[in-house]
Amino acid sequence: MEKIVDNHINIAGLKKTIYQDGNPLKILDGVDLTIQKSEVISVLGPSGCGKSTLLNIIAGLDEPDEGDININGLDFGSRLGSVGYMQQKDLLLPWRSVKDNVILGLEIRGVSKRQSYEMVEPHFQSFGLSGFESNYPHTLSGGMKQRASFLRTVITEPDILLLDEPFSALDALNRSRLQMWLLDLLEGIHRTVLLVTHDVDEAIMLSDRIYVMTSRPGRINSVEEVPYPRPRNREIVNDSSFVELKSKILSFLWDQD
Ligand SMILES: Nc1ncnc2c1ncn2[C@@H]1O[C@H](COP(=O)(O)OP(=O)(O)OP(=O)(O)O)[C@@H](O)[C@H]1O
Ligand SMILES: [Mg+2]
Repeated sequence: MEKIVDNHINIAGLKKTIYQDGNPLKILDGVDLTIQKSEVISVLGPSGCGKSTLLNIIAGLDEPDEGDININGLDFGSRLGSVGYMQQKDLLLPWRSVKDNVILGLEIRGVSKRQSYEMVEPHFQSFGLSGFESNYPHTLSGGMKQRASFLRTVITEPDILLLDEPFSALDALNRSRLQMWLLDLLEGIHRTVLLVTHDVDEAIMLSDRIYVMTSRPGRINSVEEVPYPRPRNREIVNDSSFVELKSKILSFLWDQD
């Protein structure tokens, strides 16, 4: 019992079935996961196995059919808004400029517009958005929208960050830059992070533990501890233990196909 209190996020026996044209489709079939405060964990799994559904449930946008979710004792209603959630779809507001989209979360928390601008301004350069602050979302590339959406999520500094493939639309260089930016952010201010990704290197680079899911209906197939201390740098990708861990995780994923 004490362990549950110490945990930041504790999920047990989560099940979810949706109905398509009246036919049941089992999406999640007993998902268990535990994230301690300040841990970064990644969830990997085949497309359609229920990763985004899992994040929606944790964020409080959707309800499970069965199972327990304990996030620092918050009930379902108060979860929404207490976590920072970057959804897979960028969901930028088309009628707001990049700058006004990025400050949205700050505004909702009651920070003045002027102060919000001051807070976000220093980040546009490192997010590759410099010069595009006044642009509207339809004039941006997919990668730029994703970076704006990522900045909007992290700028409010939530204790818990749920990130659904935050770097999927980015080219290798920008992807690597933002991974490093996130690593640095996590060094300075410890946050609890749940990251969904398809990129095994990214999962190992960024997280303390990796959950590999089965194909639908999603269950946890394997839990892998990542042995590298922080701060980390990109050099760990050359480590033989990195290559071994990557190949072990890939074999779990390939077994699902
Ligand atoms: N609103 C919906 N209506 C119908 N089916 C849905 C809906 N949302 C999800 N599904 C189905 O639920 C399953 C899980 O979807 P989910 O988006 O959680 O998968 P995922 O693991 O995030 O996939 P991906 O890696 O492609 O993002 C899929 O088979 C999808 O077809
Ligand atoms: Mg998804």
